[in-house]
Amino acid sequence: MATPRKFILIGLVSFSSLLGLVGAQLDAGPRFSDKHVFKRAALMNIQKTSLDTLSSMSSGRIVFDAELATLQRKILMRATRSIPKHFRRQRMEPNSNAREILWQQWPKFKARAQIANQMAKRLDTRSITGLRSSLPDLISACHACHSEYRRKPNSFITH
Ligand code: HEC
Repeated sequence: MATPRKFILIGLVSFSSLLGLVGAQLDAGPRFSDKHVFKRAALMNIQKTSLDTLSSMSSGRIVFDAELATLQRKILMRATRSIPKHFRRQRMEPNSNAREILWQQWPKFKARAQIANQMAKRLDTRSITGLRSSLPDLISACHACHSEYRRKPNSFITH
């Protein structure tokens, strides 16, 4: 019969592997110690996961599924809407790639977030042709904000 200690050990192992899994999914876990920086990176990675799914459907790497695509649209609408809330506090730490000018240009940053939100709303997930024609505008909205307010990962090493 297993001793209670053994159960505790099993419990600990499965709990930490669960944490590892969540960390890998959000891809923001170990890099950030500040709660706010962690949360904004997690939000961005949620968007990336949804966008990756839609891109895979759009390019035919996975079969188009209207229900799954609609779910991703909802996730993206909700996530992009909450970008300003996640960045409102000016918080930085060494691993963050946010450019500090975003807080000096707050109205412009918010406008970029709003455009991304509009493009998420305009995603047409009813058909593959609709998805193919509406997805590029959302991707451009992500890039437009990144090109102004996100440093290239690792650029702080070379500059
Ligand atoms: C309004 C501006 C803005 C918009 C719109 C935006 N991002 Fe970001 N994103 C940022 C900033 C700023 C960072 C850097 C955050 C940091 O490192 O602290 C970032 C970081 C990221 C990261 C890296 C997170 C990490 O783990 O370091 C990913 C992935 C990402 N964004 C995906 C997306 C996707 C996908 C979209 C579009 C659906 C999007 N972003 C739209 C501003 C934006």
